[in-house]
Amino acid sequence: MHEAALDRSQPKPALYKDVAASLAALLEGETDPLANAANAVGLLAGALDRINWCGIYVLRAGELVLGPFQGKPACVRIPLGKGVCGTAAARRESLVVPDVNAFPGHIACDAASRSEIVVPILVGGALVGVLDVDAPETDRFDGEDRAGLEAFVAALVPRVDWARL
Ligand code: SME
Repeated sequence: MHEAALDRSQPKPALYKDVAASLAALLEGETDPLANAANAVGLLAGALDRINWCGIYVLRAGELVLGPFQGKPACVRIPLGKGVCGTAAARRESLVVPDVNAFPGHIACDAASRSEIVVPILVGGALVGVLDVDAPETDRFDGEDRAGLEAFVAALVPRVDWARL
């Protein structure tokens, strides 16, 4: 099985580069969409320090539905436009929220969450879901995380058959 030898203490751009390379190696040769999405989340959760939740919501019949994740059980359905996830999904752009308590409509799944980043997952411009990462401290995520997680999603998109997930 894949050995995660990621140095979590290295600068973020280098870390995210390693994560993307690990993702390609981890998913190589496997086509099952659920297995690949689940392993991608597991890889990311292990690579990032100071986080308490990491997972994917999948677009199903016009709403976001909980998919593979690591962390505490979370709200299952999020309408587009609601919460951080639904807002990022509706706008089709990443959202970095330094303080979730200052975000109107934030949906508190894990009371420990203080900051959050959500990256929409787009296939050929069409929304198929979002990647959501929560942290138990404010200001955990910055532009480097945004760039790194967008690259992670870009690397994941062709490795999952989203219509079958
Ligand atoms: N906080 C999110 C809901 C999902 S949980 O954080 C896992 C939101 O406001 O959309």
